[in-house]
Formats: sequence, C-alpha cells, structure tokens
Amino acid sequence: MAVIPVDIAGRPYEVRVGAGLLAELVPHCRGQLRKRPVPIVTDANVHAAWGAVVETALTASGHEPHWRILPPGEGTKSWEQLAATVDWLLAEEVERGDNILALGGGVIGDLTGFAAAITKRGCRFIQLPTSLLAQVDSSVGGKTAINTPAGKNLVGAFHQPSLVLADLAVLDTLPERELRAGYAEVVKYALIGDADFFAWCDMNGAAMLAGDAALREYAVAYSIAAKAKIVAEDEHETTGIRALLNLGHTFGHALEAETHFSDFLLHGEAVALGMVLAARYSARRGLMPRAGADHVAAHIAAVGLPSEISALRLDCDGSELTAHMLHDKKMDAGTLPFLLMRGIGETFLARDVELGDIAAFLDEELRR
Ligand code: GLY
Repeated sequence: MAVIPVDIAGRPYEVRVGAGLLAELVPHCRGQLRKRPVPIVTDANVHAAWGAVVETALTASGHEPHWRILPPGEGTKSWEQLAATVDWLLAEEVERGDNILALGGGVIGDLTGFAAAITKRGCRFIQLPTSLLAQVDSSVGGKTAINTPAGKNLVGAFHQPSLVLADLAVLDTLPERELRAGYAEVVKYALIGDADFFAWCDMNGAAMLAGDAALREYAVAYSIAAKAKIVAEDEHETTGIRALLNLGHTFGHALEAETHFSDFLLHGEAVALGMVLAARYSARRGLMPRAGADHVAAHIAAVGLPSEISALRLDCDGSELTAHMLHDKKMDAGTLPFLLMRGIGETFLARDVELGDIAAFLDEELRR
C-alpha cells in the first residue's frame, strides 16, 4: 500500500492507495468514523458492484451504514440532488465533526463534497473513489461542484476531504473504455512536468491498462503524488501552478460541449484529444519540437485513446469550437489562458493566445 500526504496548510490529509481498502474500510479510517451510524452517498451502479463490500466492512466493525443511493450519471450533479442530499444529511443529524462517505466516481465525489461543504457551514467527508479518473484526479484536491444550465462545475467550493482511500480492486470491474479514459489523466501528469514518467507510460501504459497490479499501484500513486504537490502549492488555483492541471481541458471541454457532454466522448477521451491538440498547437507556434507532439499523439493512439479530431467527424468548424471556449470558467479579464508545452514534461500557462488563431488551427485539425 502507498500512503501519500496532501500537505494543505492547517488541513493535511492522506491518500491511501492499495488493493482491498474498501473491505478494510474501518481500520483505514483510523478513528475518523466517530459514531455508529455512517452516512454514505453513492450511485445505483456503484452500490450494485461495491455496496455489499462496504456494508460488510462497516457492520463487521459495529457501524450502521445509512445509504443515499443516487441515479448514475452527470445529471446527478444538479441543484435538485444537492438540495435533497443536504436535507438528507440534516435529517441524519450529521454534525460538523462527522465524516460523510462518498463512494463513487467524480459525480458522487463532487456532489457529496459540495453537500459536505455547505451543510452546517462545513462537515468532514471521506472520498472512496471507484473510477481511475476519480482516483488520480477528482477525489484529491478539494474541488467540489454541481452543474447548472449555464455550464459544468460552475457552482461549487474548495472543500478538502479528510481522507481518500483509492482501492485498486475497483479498477478490475471498471469497463475498459472508462479505464482508458481515466488513464488520460495519468498521462497528463507526465506531460505537465515529468518526461521520465512519460517514458514510463510509453513502456508500461498498455500493461497497466491490461491489469498488471504493480504497475497500476505505481501509476495511481505517482499521479496522486504529482497532484498532491501541485495542490499543496496552490490550493485555490490563484498562482497559476494548479492551473497546470487543466492541460488538455480547454480543447477537451470545447469538444465535450460540441458533443453535448454525451457518451460519444468521455471526459478523459476529450482530455486525451485536448492534450494532443495542445502539443500540436505548441509545435505549430514553434514552442515545442514537432517530434515531441507526434510522440504525444502516438502514445495516446497506442493505448487506444482518440488522438485525431478529424476521426470524430464533427459537423462544425474551428470557430464553433472556440465559441464554446468563451464560456470557460478560466476566462480572465476577457482572455483565456491556455496550457501549452515547450516539450514533453514542460507545460506552461500562456496568456497570449488568440482564439482566432486557435480556430484556424482547429480548422486544419478537423480536415487532417
Ligand atoms: N482537476 C483539476 C484540479 O483539481 O485542479
């Protein structure tokens, strides 16, 4: 098992990574479950797959799980489900010092974390992420949110969990496509700041996705440690350091918006394409060697992730894609900061990018 500290000033916590953590939930919580009743928020799919394991782990240690089982899917990150979950927590008489368990992927973690943030002005919560994407990204760092008609994640709070338990056993039951989509966020850490880890991904990514347990533990623990370091330096995304975690997300978000945030393109797949586009655009501007951008695209394609937007056969042009970017919550004084690369492992925040130039670049990519 790997234990990764997240050194947030005044509120440090641990992320534990290993196989079988859900079955040993109570000892891993090390006294953080104070009372017999334990409120748990999850979705119906995760409950079907892991509910019995968690139920047994809690009851065997003398706790009484109180489940709130929500519909699966992005639609659950809504005002309605937030209000109903907060009302439920209040009916459960949750106190600030109690921990609410969030058992699920990013949707459950984001909704439960936000409900915890606003109930009684802030209750504690424990993240039990059940997707690769949630383990290496959304469960760590304290971003919580819901979606509104104006866009995704536009209403939320920074609220750090008190513990994250990333059980690698859950990866064995994930659909292959979802696992690959989560892997895009693993590659992201390499592209942001570590060419050696990109070489590791090149060498081991396919075997890790195929199920090698040691490689999975290494990839998840490495990614969480990379994120923990960034979050500890810039918890509230004010200095530009945490913004590096958005590599591939501006292009990716435009593609997700164009495809209506549907299963046509999963978030991780959009990020994978977005990182290829960021690399190619960087090369087009002479910031990064062309060979480096080709290497990024080749790795993304080699693990079965989408690497060409032309293959999506979208019925749009570059300016329609950049129009989606104008609604990005990273817009700052009318300009959109972009994450570009000077090479693999050398991502930086550029503030001089013209959306018209991005639109022309995207027109070329759509026709490739
Ligand atoms: N997923 C980006 C962040 O946590 O900042």
